[in-house]
Amino acid sequence: MVKNSVLEVKKLCKEIDGKKIINDLSFSVEKGQVFGFLGPNGSGKTTTIRMMTGMIKPTSGSVKIMGHDVQTNFYDAMKNMGAIVEHPALFDYLSGWKNLIQSVRLTGEKHDESYLKWCVETVELSDRIHDKVKSYSLGMKQRLAIAQSLISSPKILVLDEPTNGMDPSGIKDMRSLIKKLSVEYGITIFISSHLLSEIENLCDHVLIINKGTEVVNGSVRSLLEQNQPEFNFSIDPAKINQAVLLLTEKNIKCSQSEDQIVVHTTRSDIPHLVNYLYEHQVFVYSITKSDNSLEDYFISVTREVG
Ligand SMILES: Nc1ncnc2c1ncn2[C@@H]1O[C@H](COP(=O)(O)OP(=O)(O)O)[C@@H](O)[C@H]1O
Ligand SMILES: [Mg+2]
Repeated sequence: MVKNSVLEVKKLCKEIDGKKIINDLSFSVEKGQVFGFLGPNGSGKTTTIRMMTGMIKPTSGSVKIMGHDVQTNFYDAMKNMGAIVEHPALFDYLSGWKNLIQSVRLTGEKHDESYLKWCVETVELSDRIHDKVKSYSLGMKQRLAIAQSLISSPKILVLDEPTNGMDPSGIKDMRSLIKKLSVEYGITIFISSHLLSEIENLCDHVLIINKGTEVVNGSVRSLLEQNQPEFNFSIDPAKINQAVLLLTEKNIKCSQSEDQIVVHTTRSDIPHLVNYLYEHQVFVYSITKSDNSLEDYFISVTREVG
């Protein structure tokens, strides 16, 4: 293998009852990446993750973790992966600590107490670790599940919508924990979400799917560059057509919106554009910046398909 791929998904397909749920999905996650897996509800994120973790079989295609095929070499593949799919699997009537002891028994790993304590400290649950899990908040349960995953020292941690249903402070804690796992411990992270805004600052790469099909796969930086901000130029309604023509001639992306024109440009180019229009007797009376976030882009691309 030339690249440093921790996870490699090739031509993955899943049909259920004759319906295509996942359609020819290919991507790879490189060592050290925080990889965002985005799509609206029902787009196929959990189904993909279930195939990645060997919980369900693909109709066709393959998943490799650290070069080991999940289908043909399940044990070697999975020993490198920690995953929390949908809801964390925990015993509510046991304490957080006893849940961890239970996991150690189940995985057959041999660990001393100090290692388990390190896992608990890492997820910042030391204060409450001897309380019963049923008294935990959603965020604490997720953090305990992450501690559980850390027991087997995974190379990659797969988190399926870990912030779903959390309040803003829970979301913030989860984000900083994920950042810590990535930056301080070098764990590769694969995180799914239906809200780009929740993970946009966390990820360096995003794959967006809709109806089981790839829409976009690229670095967050390139997406931000492609998504230039929009400015609304307010001008004389009689001059709108002329203004659109003038700007289009200069290869500036723009469109008409009621009595304004929407111009895709950078802040530093605005004085030049205003001056250029002025020289052609098209006067700009005011400019507002529209709040065009990556989130809007995400919503628009996931609307376009199908
Ligand atoms: N076991 C199943 N039987 C039938 N349909 C399913 C099954 N699992 C998932 N689906 C369908 O597949 C689609 C994708 O679901 P899912 O992977 O859970 O999406 P997401 O996690 O992105 O919200 C949905 O339309 C869902 O109804
Ligand atoms: Mg899901």
